[in-house]
Amino acid sequence: MTAQLIDGNALSKKIRGEVAERVAALKARGVQPGLAVILVGENPASQVYVKHKVADCEGTGMRSVLERYEPTMSEADLLARVRALNDDPAIHGILVQLPLPSHIDANKVIETISPSKDVDGFHVQSAGALMIGQPGFKPCTPYGCMKMLESIGVSPKGRHAVVIGRSNIVGKPMAMLLLQANATVTICHSGTPDLGAMTRQADIVVAAVGKRNVLTADMVKPGAVVIDVGMNRNDEDKLCGDVDFAGVSQVAGWITPVPGGVGPMTRAMLLVNTIEAAERAAAQAV
Ligand code: GUN
Repeated sequence: MTAQLIDGNALSKKIRGEVAERVAALKARGVQPGLAVILVGENPASQVYVKHKVADCEGTGMRSVLERYEPTMSEADLLARVRALNDDPAIHGILVQLPLPSHIDANKVIETISPSKDVDGFHVQSAGALMIGQPGFKPCTPYGCMKMLESIGVSPKGRHAVVIGRSNIVGKPMAMLLLQANATVTICHSGTPDLGAMTRQADIVVAAVGKRNVLTADMVKPGAVVIDVGMNRNDEDKLCGDVDFAGVSQVAGWITPVPGGVGPMTRAMLLVNTIEAAERAAAQAV
């Protein structure tokens, strides 16, 4: 292996420590930061994710409230819960775990969350703010990827970044953040005819497709930074990303592992957004 590892576990630990200091400072002013997490239904992966999110919060001294509901919960009832949390001054961040049961319109739920408490950064107002460079909450995964680049001293300025994937929660906001940092950005997707021709030009590649081996060694420029957002299972049922790690790590300059790369950073940035929301609310209350 020639590539250096970007250690998401170590970086996220440092960030959690910084959040804990900010939590302590707010608490000293009489404000207890609080995150509400809503889980509707029994999706096993979602249950694991929300358990981690709640534990992470508590690890920094923040309060977290987990609300679990039956998969039959009506959309109207869920919207009413979100509105009640919007009005609750003890709650600074609201996260509704996705996916939601199919009878509930996820967009409608996300748009009901107050943008000031939208710590996932999924609200259309947060997306719009990101697009035009206004302050707002950034989606946690791309925000974490930017922190990873910063941690290794790689500025996107003047570099060519290729983002593979165009989802609203990773690909598109990732491209916006890289653009804001003055990279030249190409967004590739399932309709891109020759993906390798694009990625071979990239100084920074972010793979966010949700499919194994989307990026192989022959598709990577020597020395490039490769960030793997994928979370898949291989034939042995082991966690793996979108990148052929064994091959690409022979060519890249830097690479994120899976697990232990982007995943812990996503969780850390949720904490950053939540403490940010609490600090803003506290500043407004003065
Ligand atoms: N489901 C999978 N990832 C996420 C996430 O980051 N936020 C929410 N709300 N749901 C998810």
